[in-house]
Amino acid sequence: MITLLLFLSCSPEPFSSCDPSTQVLQDEFPFPVGVAANPLALETNPPYQEIINTQFNSITPENIFKPVYLQPEEGRFDWTEADKLVDYCEVNGKRLHAHTLIWYQQLPYWMENFQGSPEAWEQMMKSHIQTVVRHFKGKVTSWDVVNEAFEDDGSLRENIWLQHIGESYIEKAFRFAHEADSTVLLFYNDYSIAGKRKKRNAILAFLNEIRAKGVRVDGIGMQMHIGYNYPGNAAISKAITNIWENDFLLHLSELDISINPGGRDMPEPDSARLARQAEKYAFVFNTYQEVPADFQHGITIWGVSDAQSWIPSFFGRDDYPLLFNEDFLPKPAFCNLLIQ
Ligand code: XIL
Repeated sequence: MITLLLFLSCSPEPFSSCDPSTQVLQDEFPFPVGVAANPLALETNPPYQEIINTQFNSITPENIFKPVYLQPEEGRFDWTEADKLVDYCEVNGKRLHAHTLIWYQQLPYWMENFQGSPEAWEQMMKSHIQTVVRHFKGKVTSWDVVNEAFEDDGSLRENIWLQHIGESYIEKAFRFAHEADSTVLLFYNDYSIAGKRKKRNAILAFLNEIRAKGVRVDGIGMQMHIGYNYPGNAAISKAITNIWENDFLLHLSELDISINPGGRDMPEPDSARLARQAEKYAFVFNTYQEVPADFQHGITIWGVSDAQSWIPSFFGRDDYPLLFNEDFLPKPAFCNLLIQ
């Protein structure tokens, strides 16, 4: 039944040749094709689970590996939900890319209000990183160690870590993670890496500098929360090349493509923009295919269906940024990827 619906909803032309029961995303591309997932939805929502089971071979926890969930009170770690996702990945043969250790959002209250000297802050950060990394050792392939540490102008973001530890917090976070698991791949992850050249240059310069000091940084996650018309294709290509040419693995880590970046009233998706969204998704996948295989960590889509995308609630606007619509039916963007 699902198959039939998937097929029918892909008409009319030019996106009609789409039968997800015989053609699935994970088989279409030689690199991992991932999705951000939540264990609760996986347990309770059959169409959501069906799509993840069949279409994707890599999972990023959308929220459940963030500090507010893993260490809700100081020294008390809660693995219950996170471990469900680990089990799901083990049983279903999915790669698990873990997200995220050090960020300025989704922190528990106690962490945000922690009192202590710079040394005490460093110890608190170390303890969070190492307890978490050790718990998931052998179960996850890779970690987003530091998330969103830079502003768009290339300066370091004023966050609690910078305020209390100083700019060395970034290299320390990578060192602590590596001490806890010397085989897991370590990523720096951020947004607007394609759109903001100054930001990209600052991130590359900073990471190259800490690497030169012997800090292990394996790769960069370009989040790719982009729009149907921005950034331009040339900027996206350039950013992609720029990263692997600097010898970093490249993860397009949180791809979604807004069709309403201006936030106008759009109670139904605009079909002309859905077509442009489909072209943009195809452009991103095609451009990523040109990255040398050794640098391809994969592309991860930030959610399954438009109904669960973070964008409408987070930014307070109507939007339809993902590959499946609110009824879990494939959109032109999905079918278009299958015929690339
Ligand atoms: C978002 C989740 O998708 C939402 O469910 C949550 O309410 C807020 O965080 N950059 C990131 C992700 O690195 O962790 C964010 O995820 C989206 C922006």
